[in-house]
Amino acid sequence: MDTVLNYLRTHRQRFVEELCAYLRFPSVSAQTAHTRDLRACADWLVEHCKSIGLKAKRHATRGHPVVTASTPRRKGYPHCLVYGHYDVQPPEPLDQWHTPPFEPAVRKGAVYARGATDNKGQHFAHLKAVEAYHKTGVELPCDLTFVIEGEEEVGSEALTEFLKKQRRELACDVVVISDTGMPSKKHPALTYALRGVAALEVSVRGPKADLHSGIYGGSVDNPALVLAQMLAQLRDKRGRIAVPGFYDGVEPLSEHERRQFKRLPYNETAYKRLLGVTALFGEKGFTPIEQRSARPTLEINGLTSGYQGEGSKTIVPAEASAKITCRLVPGQSPRKVVRLLKRHLKSICPPTVRLRLEEGHGADPYLVSPTSPPAQAALSALREAFGHEPVILREGGSIPIVTEFKKILGIDSLLLGLALPDDNLHSPNEKFDLDCLARGSAMSALLWPRLAMALRH
Ligand code: BES
Ligand code: MN
Repeated sequence: MDTVLNYLRTHRQRFVEELCAYLRFPSVSAQTAHTRDLRACADWLVEHCKSIGLKAKRHATRGHPVVTASTPRRKGYPHCLVYGHYDVQPPEPLDQWHTPPFEPAVRKGAVYARGATDNKGQHFAHLKAVEAYHKTGVELPCDLTFVIEGEEEVGSEALTEFLKKQRRELACDVVVISDTGMPSKKHPALTYALRGVAALEVSVRGPKADLHSGIYGGSVDNPALVLAQMLAQLRDKRGRIAVPGFYDGVEPLSEHERRQFKRLPYNETAYKRLLGVTALFGEKGFTPIEQRSARPTLEINGLTSGYQGEGSKTIVPAEASAKITCRLVPGQSPRKVVRLLKRHLKSICPPTVRLRLEEGHGADPYLVSPTSPPAQAALSALREAFGHEPVILREGGSIPIVTEFKKILGIDSLLLGLALPDDNLHSPNEKFDLDCLARGSAMSALLWPRLAMALRH
C-alpha cells in the first residue's frame, strides 16, 4: 500500500495538469450548443482511462455519451462500480468569474473551473488511485468498472436506460460515488441520504404581444404580476410549502437522527458569512442542518418577464415564466409532487391569463443505513486518508442515478464526497481543493482492500 500512496504523492503535480486538461472542455449538458463539447470530453476521458491501463469505451445513447472504463474481471474478486459525471452546470453569470470558467486556474491550493468539484475533480481522484495501482504493479483487491455519464445535471435519463441494457455487465457488489460534500477537511463524510428533486416550468401568457403600458395598462391583467402573486402563495410565513398534499407521507425525523445532526459542526455566524446573507430563513421548528438536508423544499430557480435591459421600457409584458424545483425526502415522489403542484397552480391561476405547465426532470430521494460493512470500510478509509474521525451526513442535493442503481442493480451506493462548503458548486468561481484531490485519491486507494474484506463477509 505504501508504494501506491507514494506514487500518488510523487505525481501530484502532473495530476493537477491532467485535471486542468479535463476541465477545459465546456461540457454543459443543459445547453444544446455544447453537444459536441460533451462528445469531445467523453473522448478525452476514454483516452485518459486507456492511458492508465483501463479498458475504456464511449457508448452512444439517446442523449450524451456514457463512458465506461474497467479492469479485467477475475473470478472470486468483488466487483465495484465507481460512478461520476463529466457534464457540468451552465457557467453563467460569466462576468462574476475571476478567471474564465473553462480556463482552469490554480490559486491558493485550489483549481478554479466549472466542474472542478462537481464532478470532474472528484471522480478524477478515483481514476488516479487506479493509475497508482497499475503503475506500481500492486494488485487491485477489487475489480472496478467506472461509469461516467454526461447527463447527471439534467436528470440522467440516458444512463437509466443504459443501466437496464447493461445490467449483466454492471452487476456488482457496491457502487462508490464521490459527488457530495464534507463539512470541512477535519470532518470527512459518508453521506447516507440525498434529497430527490422534481422540476416544473410555469408560464402565464396574457396579451398576444408586449403592450404600451400607458395606452392599455389598467384594462388588461399583467402576466408578471399574476405570476408573482401565484408564486408568492406557494410558501407561507413559517416557511411551509403551501401546496395541498405536499407533506403527505413525509416521514418525521427520529429523535435519534436529530441528536446525530446536533453533533455536526455548525456555526450560524460562519454559515451566514459563507453564504453572504443577512439572516437565515427556513421552515419553523427545524434547524438549518435539518432544513437543508432532511426537509422538503420548493425553490424558484429562475424568473423571467418583460424588459430587463438598460434604462426603462413601459410595457405590459405578454408573458412571464418561472423555473421551479422541489427537493424531496423519503415518502415523496417526483411524479406525485409535480401532480400536486400542477393542480394547485391551475386552481389559483386567474382567467385573465393562459397557464402553461411543463414537467422537467425528476429524481427519487435516497436513504440507506450507514452501518453496513461496506460503509464501515469506507469510514475507515476516510479516517486514514484525512487523519480525522469521519461524520455521517444527510445531504440536500440529488444524484438521480443513485436510486436507479438500487432499483435496477439492487445495489446501494457509498457516497464519499470530496467537496468543501465553499467550493461554489453551480455558482461562479467553482473550485476543487488540491488537498482534497490528494487525500481523495489516497482514500480511494485505501478503500479497495478494505472493501474487499468487508464484501467477503
Ligand atoms: N453533486 C451534485 C449533488 C450534490 C451536491 C449532492 C452536494 C450532495 C451535496 C450533483 O451534481 C447535482 O448537482 N445534482 C443535481 C441533480 C438535478 C439537476 C437532477 C442537483 O442536485 O441539483
Ligand atoms: Mn451538480
